[in-house]
Amino acid sequence: MTIRREPGELPASVLVTGAAGAIGQALRQTLLPKISSVTLSDIKEVAPLATNERFVPADLESLDQVREAVRDAEVVIHLGGISDEASFDVIAGPNLRGAFNVFEACRLEGVERVVYASSNRITGFYPVETALTGSEPVRPDGLYGATKAFGEALASMYADRFGLGVVSVRIGSFERLPSDPRHLSTWLSWDDASRLFEACLRRGPRASAHIVVYGVSNNASGWWPLADGAHTLGYVPQDNAESHASEIAPGERPVGPYQGGEYTAYGYGGWAKPPESEQ
Ligand code: NAI
Repeated sequence: MTIRREPGELPASVLVTGAAGAIGQALRQTLLPKISSVTLSDIKEVAPLATNERFVPADLESLDQVREAVRDAEVVIHLGGISDEASFDVIAGPNLRGAFNVFEACRLEGVERVVYASSNRITGFYPVETALTGSEPVRPDGLYGATKAFGEALASMYADRFGLGVVSVRIGSFERLPSDPRHLSTWLSWDDASRLFEACLRRGPRASAHIVVYGVSNNASGWWPLADGAHTLGYVPQDNAESHASEIAPGERPVGPYQGGEYTAYGYGGWAKPPESEQ
């Protein structure tokens, strides 16, 4: 697809996968009304639609269905998939095959750029004292984080080998308001999420590059200082979880020692039973 667009201009056509989910629904209220032509896709129906929106159902596990959804999009925001820890059988289809199908459909359909919803859980086993910029080796806190590492590896390969522009957004905790102590470090407000995804649409790489950015607000107790990715995109978060600290009940468990907090627990997600329970 040949696209004539000034640098910094919004794309005319955007596909959002996982559009029925929490972030997709929020972006429909904040960012997507600014785009001329929006395709929403999910296995769950999205309705009613705004005048600039259409819905194309697609199971991420079907390359044909994903190609149908991707067709005509300049930029794809890939939000779809399993968004928390789950057994390998549950998560592999949507998050591994699904991620492959999205990147492959984008290659086949000549999409310019993918904005990939990665996760902070890709680095959940770093200590809370460690500031991360996105260039460190991954240390996923579970299978979910590991599937996001696979997605980021695909992003890198599709940029290098096939010339795609990709932004991997390692989303923190996308919440209306921060509600637990970990959110003081990880909160991504609705408005900052809209700013960040808009920055990805306006200034993400148009070809042959993969940028990694943490999707987080300007939290006083944050672990992920703004780094190269955010500077390239011109993302400047404006909300701070600290402003809501007095409304957050102290947790039963202190945050740490790892950034993933409770997600780093041996049994979190229920699939890893202690070996003796197999006997
Ligand atoms: P969500 O769980 O609310 O929405 C995910 C959507 O994907 C759902 O509507 C679901 O129907 C769809 N989906 C699942 N399997 C599918 C399949 N096989 N085919 C088609 N659609 C399928 O997730 P949310 O909160 O909106 O997050 C969006 C993305 O951002 C996810 O990839 C998640 O991993 C990532 N993320 C979200 C964070 C958050 O705080 N909400 C934090 C870090 C990452």
